[in-house]
Amino acid sequence: MAYDTLFTPIEMGNQTFKNRVFMAPLTRLRAIEPGDIPTILAAEYYAQRAGAGLIITEATQVSLQAKGYAGAPGIHDEEQVTAWKVITDAVHAKDGKIVVQLWHTGLVSHESVQPEGKAPISASKINVGVRTSLRDDNGNPIRVEGTTPRAASLDEINQVIADFAQATKYAKQAGFDGVEIHGAHGYLLHQFWAEHTNKRDDNYGGSRENRARLMLQVIDACVDAWDKDHVGIRVSPLGSFNNVDVGYNEEEAIWLVEQINERGLMYLHLSEPDWAGGTPYSTEFRQKLRQAFHNSIIAAGGYTPEKAQTMVEAGYIDAVAFGRDYIANPDLAQRIKKGVALNEQHPETFYGGGIKGYTDYPFMSE
Ligand code: FNR
Repeated sequence: MAYDTLFTPIEMGNQTFKNRVFMAPLTRLRAIEPGDIPTILAAEYYAQRAGAGLIITEATQVSLQAKGYAGAPGIHDEEQVTAWKVITDAVHAKDGKIVVQLWHTGLVSHESVQPEGKAPISASKINVGVRTSLRDDNGNPIRVEGTTPRAASLDEINQVIADFAQATKYAKQAGFDGVEIHGAHGYLLHQFWAEHTNKRDDNYGGSRENRARLMLQVIDACVDAWDKDHVGIRVSPLGSFNNVDVGYNEEEAIWLVEQINERGLMYLHLSEPDWAGGTPYSTEFRQKLRQAFHNSIIAAGGYTPEKAQTMVEAGYIDAVAFGRDYIANPDLAQRIKKGVALNEQHPETFYGGGIKGYTDYPFMSE
């Protein structure tokens, strides 16, 4: 059997996961509007991928205000919860496990998808020239420039924290095996962390303690809403994502991971920069990450099975998450195990649309 190490079970929180080949969170922009409700097709899509040790869903809004992309689903009302329950049931019926990735997009948004057409919130009123995705009259995705954000008030910050907590309760109700807080890729929590986008002079800006405050308060609120064994977080602590640039300050990145570690979470999920053209992590940085975080570490970003196996055996990570390969190969874990070639990817169907490029990629036996 190839890549034996990737097929040993892993304990995270109080659960056992059958292998270490995970499905990365992947926005597919096929949810129903209005309502931001995941479709029945999403149940088929995720159930097809239940061979993964863990499925992390596409990023999912914790509130109406958290929305930045037309077609991304939400988890902030009962109708959405009912739809997600169909999905978690379908994955569990195939012996899979699934957590929902919770996000607030902050400035990566557009007034046309915001409540009352307001400007989206961020740490500060700074336009980083980001683009997001809306739908045209035919429902097809179109890229547009984000609306210049406004600085969140303290009441709004408290509401964001409460929304993450409520979404965590909804996730439990919907049958998820946990939640993953999206602390990466230049979305709201990352916008507060990055000096580039955070020019606040209150308790949420300035020192690193202040810039980390929102992320850590969100973690604490999610843990209160469920427990630490069912809460993970994704971070991208080095490099630039969505034009939000934190540079390459390894010392600050490790400090942040140490603060996260104190919360005893189920896992830390690292989105590494090299898949998007950034500088790869150094071995020294990997060693420091491992020392700073004591529970499971998942890594993603341009991984091959070879690299994943090497990193797991070296002790730097515990599991790998594949993104694009999981879009194109519903049975990716099984293909890796058997050494079967992968399907060709069709990036033009990554975002938006229906069955094509979503549930019609062939399984290896076909
Ligand atoms: C992504 N990625 C991503 N990341 C995230 O945290 N939440 C998300 O919703 C998405 N959505 C998304 C959609 C699409 C179409 C792509 C290609 C990527 C990033 C993803 O999880 C992963 O980190 C990257 O794809 C790099 O891994 P691979 O593809 O090199 O294995």
